[in-house]
Amino acid sequence: MKQRVTLNVNGESRETLVASHKTLLEVLREDLGLTGTKHGCELGAAQCGYCTPGILLTASALLAERPSPTRQDVKEALAGNLCRCTGYTKILDAVELAALRMGRQEART
Ligand code: FES
Repeated sequence: MKQRVTLNVNGESRETLVASHKTLLEVLREDLGLTGTKHGCELGAAQCGYCTPGILLTASALLAERPSPTRQDVKEALAGNLCRCTGYTKILDAVELAALRMGRQEART
């Protein structure tokens, strides 16, 4: 069942038909195409995603230069990236996991 709703989004009035089971997040992302709105709590290493591009680029550069970094290497490489959401532990874990998986992938090729 859908219901017509009018939302004030970023100062603009937006009218849409909304399935009654959808969350506001789903309406914003899926119905209105506003994918800048993130589902922060469902992921491990990333939450809101604001820091993700910088962390990914930094981690990519680190792994290109040093395919098997130590935990300290990862900490030092990412030191210039601020994340307001996480405690950094999951981010560090994710970079180490990426290094491990990339190493395995290279071993297969
Ligand atoms: Fe929100 Fe890093 S996940 S700033």
